Amino acid sequence: MFVLAQLSDLHMAGRPRLSELASKRALGYINWQRGRKYIHRPEVLDAITRDVKAQAVDHIAVTGDLVNLSLPVEYERARAWLETLGAPHDVTAIPGNHDVYVPAVVPSPAAYWGDYMRGDDGPSGFPFVRQRANVALIALSTGVPTGPFMATGRLGQRQLSNFAEALAQTHNLFRIVLIHHPPLSPPARYMRRLIDAEDLRQVLAEHGAELLIHGHDHERAVIRLDGPRGTKIPAVGAPSASARGPHGHESAGGYNIYRIDGDAAAWRCEMIARERGADGTVREIGRQSLF
Ligand SMILES: [Fe+2]
Repeated sequence: MFVLAQLSDLHMAGRPRLSELASKRALGYINWQRGRKYIHRPEVLDAITRDVKAQAVDHIAVTGDLVNLSLPVEYERARAWLETLGAPHDVTAIPGNHDVYVPAVVPSPAAYWGDYMRGDDGPSGFPFVRQRANVALIALSTGVPTGPFMATGRLGQRQLSNFAEALAQTHNLFRIVLIHHPPLSPPARYMRRLIDAEDLRQVLAEHGAELLIHGHDHERAVIRLDGPRGTKIPAVGAPSASARGPHGHESAGGYNIYRIDGDAAAWRCEMIARERGADGTVREIGRQSLF
């Protein structure tokens, strides 16, 4: 049995200096001051962090948007939070669009969180692969800076072809794909979609994976993607781990636990959803078998 927890979209915020309010950050800061700061709450993240640590999981995946405006103070805060979660060996992080909010900060996630974003074989960059027990964590990066009012992501051809190779090399393991953007977006989220999602789905259809986990939409969701030879790949979206309550289509703050058992002949995977209720306590709100 291998137990993985997935936390996503923390949006840890810091106060920008005037000189840091250039370009897209100014709009993002207005957006934050007008409403998002009432949605993403440090006390919610604290409650969820305490809860996940009490669950004694084997590994924790953090699927992007750790920070809000990609400010140095935010990267530092997220680094400290990662260290409270666990050692780099036991916690795997990937960036989201908010972690590379403007072009100047593209190197920053690796600079601040590099040891949490590195494969077993050492080199940094994406995709990277970590094997824990009979599980392969295959980490992708869709984080690219975008223009105002955009929150799109992109993998790029080079990452996609290396991803295909990583899936082929780990086919005997329970392959979990970590990605920030969802592999499929409704038309209403066109400005927030993964631009090369169709290419991603094609690689998955050809090479297969046992599970894909993502964030970005701040919404609990399970869909099934086509795998090879008529198989289906569950793709699970996690809520924000800092959201105070449900908001529009967004779910209340929470996270997911995946319990993986069996072997390549017959995998089993159960998902447990945990959520922070209005009274501030975090509890299980449901479980479902993905396999
Ligand atoms: Fe995002």
